[in-house]
Amino acid sequence: MRLEDKKFSKEIIKWYRLFGRDNLPWRNNVSPYKIWISEIMLQQTQVKTVIPFYKKFLKKYPNLKSIAPAREDDILALWTGLGFYRRAKNIYKTKEIIKKSFSNRFPKKFSELVELPGIGRSTAGAIMSIAYQEPFPILDANVKRVISRYKKINLKEKTSIKELWSSSEDLTPKKNIFEYTQGIMDLGATICRSKSAECFDCPLKKTCKSAFQNFQIETMVKKTRPVKDIYFTLAHSNNSFLLFKKNDKSFWESLWIPYDDNYLNKESIFKKSYKKKTATINHCLTHLELNIKIEIIDYKDIFKVNSNLEHQWINKKQIRNYGLPKPIMTIIEEYV
Ligand code: ADE
Repeated sequence: MRLEDKKFSKEIIKWYRLFGRDNLPWRNNVSPYKIWISEIMLQQTQVKTVIPFYKKFLKKYPNLKSIAPAREDDILALWTGLGFYRRAKNIYKTKEIIKKSFSNRFPKKFSELVELPGIGRSTAGAIMSIAYQEPFPILDANVKRVISRYKKINLKEKTSIKELWSSSEDLTPKKNIFEYTQGIMDLGATICRSKSAECFDCPLKKTCKSAFQNFQIETMVKKTRPVKDIYFTLAHSNNSFLLFKKNDKSFWESLWIPYDDNYLNKESIFKKSYKKKTATINHCLTHLELNIKIEIIDYKDIFKVNSNLEHQWINKKQIRNYGLPKPIMTIIEEYV
């Protein structure tokens, strides 16, 4: 390792010991299972949003043994409100693979981890270095930012990803890998932030090629998403709601939703009813803005439904045991 690369990791490790976020729940009593769950949750979501979801998840499933018998629905239920539900489905798939092919023991090799659903090179690297303390590089959004600024790598260049991985490999130390990996993540999250960099407080300021410069801060391009109107009919009877398991991949795959008026033949199901209430709610996905309109219909009695789609009358008291999109959960919970 080059001397200046060694200095990079040494400074980060020193800084982590003084200023690292040692109060994050996945950093106490570390286990490969806990690091796996936290890294999946943190893939597209900020630390402060993840913490309550992580705690709830770990309370129900503290280890591989406890999650082994879980159904996909049980895992999706704990994901309600966290978004990017494919991650929950990947946790289900991975724990099934671990059960069948690894005698329910967490895989120890990078080559095994990187084959599992939802685990790419960076997540596998994070598990190897944090849980097993083996020196593997990572490259999540924070680390990309730190390294690209440190080395002045232009992120707009097509080849930048290759260059970033190669730099991350060069900079990753052989020793104190736990502190280094968490430290570089924390530095990206608290000092070398996307909108502003606190170069005065940065342990890398002497050698960073972008320190104190008016380097281009990634401008926050306000995303304009296409708007999609969606219409649902929500049947309600005796404190129960009729929900269908979504089976198309566009969004909310495998979550429980009301009757979708856009695709399904409403007349065949909803007879002799009266409209009780209409609810509207706006909800943003990464790629779409949803304008959701729900017609809620009250029935005297629960009725049998003819539909090829998996469906169920779910009692309001049980609703938290199912994976529902946040806006649907909100409407049901507020409905009296
Ligand atoms: N982002 C991704 N992984 C993280 C971790 N282990 N700690 C803090 N932020 C993270």
